[in-house]
Amino acid sequence: MKQNPKRVIGLVILFILLVAAVILGVRVASLVDMTYVEMHTTPTPEPPVRNVMQVTVDPNAPTPPPVLRSGSQGEEVIQLQTRLQQLGYYTSSIDGDFGPGTKSAVIVFQLQHDLSADGIVGEDTRNVLYSASAQPKATPTPEPDPTPTPETVYPWVRSDGLPILVNRDHFLPDGYQPADLVYMADYCDSSIVKIKASGIQGERVAVDAMMSMLEYAHSQGITVWQVSAGYRSKAYQQQLFDEQVYEYRKKNGLSYNDAVSATRLTVMEPGSSEHHLGLAFDITVPGVAFKGTEQAAWLAENCWQFGFIIRYTEEKEDITGILAEPWHIRYVGTEHSLNMLEENLCLEEYIAKYGFE
Ligand code: DAL
Ligand code: ZN
Repeated sequence: MKQNPKRVIGLVILFILLVAAVILGVRVASLVDMTYVEMHTTPTPEPPVRNVMQVTVDPNAPTPPPVLRSGSQGEEVIQLQTRLQQLGYYTSSIDGDFGPGTKSAVIVFQLQHDLSADGIVGEDTRNVLYSASAQPKATPTPEPDPTPTPETVYPWVRSDGLPILVNRDHFLPDGYQPADLVYMADYCDSSIVKIKASGIQGERVAVDAMMSMLEYAHSQGITVWQVSAGYRSKAYQQQLFDEQVYEYRKKNGLSYNDAVSATRLTVMEPGSSEHHLGLAFDITVPGVAFKGTEQAAWLAENCWQFGFIIRYTEEKEDITGILAEPWHIRYVGTEHSLNMLEENLCLEEYIAKYGFE
């Protein structure tokens, strides 16, 4: 039987088309499968991570200023001392050496600007120091110089430069005389502080520092202050001691020995009280207990920058042997008060650590 050639050609073309369609269909199906598989098994690649170090480090960027602290030297220290001097915080020579004078000035600056008072010039301190708000909040302490000079020889400065320690183990030397006692009721501005009794006296250098301190307190809105005690003679200290012993015996019914032991926790025996120096004051608020007042809190925070220490704290009772007295401040000079604050040392610890007399 004879085939029609046109029909044969048509069948061949149809066959080829069919085969092509089958092949194409298989490929499309497998591509669809692959895409499905990939979408559900391969984690989506993370967006490329920017290498922060590579991006932010600019080799041409200026190096940040160094942190300045005790022992630092050079141009940056000269710049710092110049700035502190402009602001009235630094009065010594601009020598490029970051010594105790520079450190004290930095600490006073930090205290007055609510910065951490560590005496180190890092970023925070530097930012404030070179800003418009760097101006002193009040006239900085006119720093009385505790170092003996031919004109000013303070009997309370030891030969090693440290402030004299007076306590039960260190009675005052025989014949000790305060250098320059003033009657505080005459000497002090009564709008700043009330002097409780007309006979209260104090060493001029300490009274001056106290008045600077209380003027600063007024500028901060803490205004009611009284001085209840200053210089005491040995005879007067004996009287205070005896009165306290008597009171314990009479009111509390203690034996003499127990009354003396109890008294020793709050009153020094004559010859061992700091009040003999004229450098210690009992600061009070008329008519109320001082502990817990805003004045007590202010004093504890600020007295250091004016050369005073809170002499008897709860924390150091075991060392001082005296129950905490938040009202009793002792003048030692800013160099020492700031060091003691920074190192959290009471006077006994400070002398033990740094004294060589
Ligand atoms: N109240 C203090 C400790 C003194 O008597 O000196
Ligand atoms: Zn006192």
